[in-house]
Amino acid sequence: MISSVSCPVIDQAPAGPGIFTIRLKAPVLAAEAKPGQFVHVRTADGIDPLWRRPFSIHRVDRRRGILLLSYRRIGRGTSLLAGRTAGDTIDLLGPLGKPFDTAGRFDKAIIVAGGLGIAPVPFLLDALRKEGKRAVVLWGVRSKAEFFCLEALRGRKTAIHIATEDGSEGFHGRVTDLFGRLAAEFTAGSGFSGFACGPMPMLKTLQPLAAASGFPWQASLEERMACGVGVCQGCVVRMKNRQYRTVCADGPVFDLAELDFND
Ligand SMILES: Cc1cc2nc3c(=O)[nH]c(=O)nc-3n(C[C@H](O)[C@H](O)[C@H](O)COP(=O)(O)OP(=O)(O)OC[C@H]3O[C@@H](n4cnc5c(N)ncnc54)[C@H](O)[C@@H]3O)c2cc1C
Ligand code: FES
Repeated sequence: MISSVSCPVIDQAPAGPGIFTIRLKAPVLAAEAKPGQFVHVRTADGIDPLWRRPFSIHRVDRRRGILLLSYRRIGRGTSLLAGRTAGDTIDLLGPLGKPFDTAGRFDKAIIVAGGLGIAPVPFLLDALRKEGKRAVVLWGVRSKAEFFCLEALRGRKTAIHIATEDGSEGFHGRVTDLFGRLAAEFTAGSGFSGFACGPMPMLKTLQPLAAASGFPWQASLEERMACGVGVCQGCVVRMKNRQYRTVCADGPVFDLAELDFND
C-alpha cells in the first residue's frame, strides 16, 4: 500500500519563465522511484485545494535522498507550490504509476518531448546511461525562452536537437516536424526504441510517424487527475481495442501504438 510522506523543501528556484524546480528531501521516494513515475502532491497544508496535483519525477539523487520536480505555474495548485520555501514540508504520495521500460532489447533511445513534457527526461536519461544506452533527445517548445535544464540533458551519450515554433532557436517548427525531418536517421533494425512525452496533440501527430519508424514507442500521458491511484476513474483514456485505461494506475506510460486519440 502506498502511503503519503511529508517531505522537507530543501530549496526552490525559477528555472525559466513561470517554471520552477523544487528539491525535496525524500530518501525513500528517491530510492524507490523509477523514470516515468510521478508523485501526487498536496500543494498546500490542509484540504484546500482538495485534490493533489500530479508531477513527473524530474530527477533523483539517491545518495543524498533528494527528489526534484520541475513544473509550470498555470493555476491555483502550482501557484501555491511555487510559494513553498526551504523549511516548509510538502505531503507527497508516490512513487505512482507505471515507469518507462529502459531495460528492453535496444541500445539507442530516441526521445521526443514537447514543452513541459521534458520534465521526466533527465531521470530517464540517467537510467539509460546507467544501462550503457545512448540517447537522442528532440525537444520542442513555442519559443526559446521556454528551454530550461538543458545542462541536465547534455551528456556524453546524449545528442540534443531543439525546435521552436516561432523559429527563435533551432529547427523552425514543431518537434514532430523535426522528427519527420530526421526520421531517416532512426530506422528499424538499428537498435532504436522510442520514448515520447508531451501533450496529447503532439502524441497524436507523432503516432503515425512512430508507427512508420518500425520500432516500439512508449508514451507518457498527462491527464487531469483526482485520486491518482486508479479509484475514481477520472483520468481514463481509450485504447485502440476500445478498452479504457486509467492514466494514473495503468499509465502514465503506455505503448504509443495502442492509444486511441480519435474523439
Ligand atoms: C502523470 C502526470 C505528470 C505531470 N507532470 C508534470 C510535470 O512534471 N510538470 C508540470 O508542470 N506539469 C505536470 N503535469 C501537469 C500538472 O499536474 C498540472 O499542470 C497541474 O496539476 C495543474 O495544477 P493547477 O492547480 O496549477 O492548475 P488548475 O488550476 O487545476 O488548472 C489550470 C489550467 O490548466 C489546465 N490543466 C490542469 N492540469 C492539466 C493537465 N494535466 N493537462 C493539461 N491541462 C491541465 C486546466 O484545465 C486549467 O485550464 C503532469 C500531469 C500528469 C497527469
Ligand atoms: S485519477 Fe482517479 S483513477 Fe486516475
